[in-house]
Parts: sequence; C-alpha cells; structure tokens
Amino acid sequence: MPEVILSAQDLVKHYPIRSGVLRRVAGQVKAVDGVSFDLHKGETLGIVGESGCGKSTLGRLLMRLEEPTSGKVIFGGEDWSGASGRKLRQMRRNIQIVFQDPYTSLNPRMTVGDIVGEPLEIHSDVVPKGGRRKRVQELLDLVGLNPEHINRYPHQFSGGQRQRIGIARGIALNPSVLVCDEPVSALDVSVQAQVVNLMEKLQDELGLAYVFIAHDLSVVRHISDRVGVMYLGRMAELGEEDEVYSRPTHPYTQALLSAVPVPDPTLRGKRDQIVLQGDVPSPANPPSGCRFHTRCWKAQEVCTTDEPELELRPDGLGAHLSRCHFAEPRLILETVDVSDLEPDTRFAGTEVQDMSDLGAGLGAAGGGEDLGSSAADAGVERSSALHPDTDQAPQDTTRLVDEQPGDDRPTR
Ligand SMILES: Nc1ncnc2c1ncn2[C@@H]1O[C@H](COP(=O)(O)OP(=O)(O)O)[C@@H](O)[C@H]1O
Ligand code: SF4
Ligand SMILES: [Mg+2]
Repeated sequence: MPEVILSAQDLVKHYPIRSGVLRRVAGQVKAVDGVSFDLHKGETLGIVGESGCGKSTLGRLLMRLEEPTSGKVIFGGEDWSGASGRKLRQMRRNIQIVFQDPYTSLNPRMTVGDIVGEPLEIHSDVVPKGGRRKRVQELLDLVGLNPEHINRYPHQFSGGQRQRIGIARGIALNPSVLVCDEPVSALDVSVQAQVVNLMEKLQDELGLAYVFIAHDLSVVRHISDRVGVMYLGRMAELGEEDEVYSRPTHPYTQALLSAVPVPDPTLRGKRDQIVLQGDVPSPANPPSGCRFHTRCWKAQEVCTTDEPELELRPDGLGAHLSRCHFAEPRLILETVDVSDLEPDTRFAGTEVQDMSDLGAGLGAAGGGEDLGSSAADAGVERSSALHPDTDQAPQDTTRLVDEQPGDDRPTR
C-alpha cells in the first residue's frame, strides 16, 4: 500500500451551546467525537453518513479551517495541529478543499481568472507573477473549460462548469490532498457523472488523494477505494469499498445500504429491507454505550453501557473495522454485484437518493418501495450518462446562462 499522506488522530470538535443573557455555555455539540483514519497517497477515502453526523466538520478540521478541540492532523509525517502563520500556509498549499455548492462558493464579482488564480497570488512562490495567467489557462483546460473564458464571471457558467472552476482552483497549487465536501450533490445526475469522471481523471494524472465526503452512497462507492461510515460524530465502520458495501458488519451501514433503491424494478423486493425506528439523536446528547443503540434492532443490554471499539471484526471473507459488539456480515444488495462491471457502469448499480429521502425510507415501514421507484428513473438517467463509450464527449446538460455556440468544450 502507498505511503500514508494524511492522518486524522482521534480528532474531536465540540461546539459550545450558549444560552441565557450571559451566553453561558449550557452544553456542547459533539460534531466530531474521536475520528481516526489514514489517507494514502493517490487513494480516495469516501466518508458517508446522514446529515448532521459531522462530515463537513471533519473536512474543515482536516484542512485546518477549524481548530480541533483535541486530536491531531498529521500531514507528511508532521503534526500540523498547532501550526499558524507561514507554517499553516505551507500546509494549506498541500491540502485544498472543494465545496458542495458551486453557486455560492465562487465570488460572483470575481472573474474566473481571478478565482482560479487567487491561490497563486496568496502562494506567490509557486508560479512567478508573469506566468500566472498562462497557468490559470492551463488549469481551465485541464478541467475541461475553455481557457479563453478566463475573463468571464461565475454566473456565465452552468452548475457543472462552476464546479469545474472550483476544482481548478482546488488543484491550482498542486496539492497532494483534495478534501471534497459533497462536490456533486448540488448537480443534476448527468452532470454529477461528468464531474466525478473529471475528478478520477485528475487523480490519475496528478496523483491526488481525495477525502470524498457525500451522503450519496452510490457516488461514494463509484469513486472510493475505501469508505468510512459516520454516525453521530464517530466512525461506525471503515474498510475497503467492497468490504463495506458487500460485507457490511455494522447494523447502521446495513440499514443505510438497505435503503439504497435498486434501479432494476424486477429486482426490487428481493433486496433485504431494514426499517430503522426513531430519529437520529442529538449530537449534543449522544446515547450512552453504543451511540446507535436507540435505533438498533440488535441492541442488547451491553450496548447501552459499553461503547464498542472500532476494531477489526470478521466479515465472512476477512476482517475490517467495525464498531459493534455483535458485528456480523449481512448481504444487503444481493442483486447488485458491481465488482465485475466496468468502473463507469458500476455507478448505475446502486443509485441512491438524498439522505433526507433515506430518512423517510428508514423511518416509515414500507417506505423503501416508493423510494425505489423514484430512484429507478434517476438510475436509468445516470447509467446512460455514464455510458462507458468515452469517445463520446460529455456535455453539460445544464443550460448556459449566455449560451453561445462552441461555449462548451468537451472534457479531454
Ligand atoms: N459552527 C458550528 N457551531 C455549532 N454547531 C455546529 C457548527 N458546525 C456544525 N455544527 C453542528 O455539528 C453537527 C455536525 O455538522 P456537520 O459537520 O455540518 O454535519 P454533516 O456535514 O455530516 O451534515 C451538526 O449537529 C451541526 O449542527
Ligand atoms: S453495539 Fe449493539 S447497539 Fe451498537 S450497533 Fe452493535 S448491536 Fe447495535
Ligand atoms: Mg455537510
């Protein structure tokens, strides 16, 4: 396995809850509560979990956009937890972030050239002043945008193109790690596929490692080498993509996977359905013992008092990390064996909807079937968008605001 480039060591982030006129601290939101993992050079680690489980906070901690309450971020073998000033800038050069919403994350008053070139201004030693415009044009070309559009403004681009701008900015400094927080969640399914394909291409060409945060299990499966499943600020399960998706041992992962709609209607109903009871508890007051015990159908007395460790537990074929006293593999998506498919067609096998839909599916008995049918259409859409015929130039289907002939350059 390649060398470890980034390590999270027992990362904790608690936000104080203030109340009353004196704004006294009345409690703590335990957004991230002891998360550890290694990221290897050139790999993609997917992070999944329901909304509010701490994914974005984790992303911000990795980039040191926020100071952890405790724990360490190790990059290139060095602890960056307390770094500031020049040292912090040096770290930021190597770890960049791409945000979810391409509509709000780009400054509307800056040209694309300024947006993508800004990191080069801040880190002025990376490219000499005279060469920056050329470098920005190279970056635009690399992400499949027309370098001649360097003077345009964000509103003149479609959603997918804006996310390409965000990615170009993210890779401007030649980082070795890109933290991607829901990078395609705001995009149409067909455009999502193109952006994910672009990210894979850039990873191959530039040797980037990704921390890919998303609530969409199918997108994460498609792009990830390894996957971590978060629940209430903690990692519930962590393993190779195949281990987590085909041999999940944690009941929470199994429940998430069971709510993934199956695109083929004839196969629906054959899939193992797990309906979870109750809502996600508040991260300000997580349950004692195993945090999942209030919703777990396998919970026993010990689960309410003793928190299980995240440790290697047998999964039927080998063993991978899981935080459950009674971990045992359970095949959920029996009908979808994606391992033998071409990478691009895999995506279509496990179409998932938003986690908010998922919540409904998990909470209400029998809700899974409805969820399946709506997603079936989306699955068909995505599968055609990801047709492995790569000679065909992908097209951004989102309408350009100032659409002009020849505006859209195909990705190389
Ligand atoms: N700046 C903040 N101040 C207080 N609470 C926060 C802050 N940021 C996030 N939280 C809380 O931390 C928890 C995790 O949030 P977040 O990391 O955004 O989750 P996710 O990205 O998985 O949806 C949520 O309960 C959220 O309300
Ligand atoms: S430890 Fe107990 S409550 Fe927690 S996931 Fe396992 S069986 Fe369920
Ligand atoms: Mg988030």
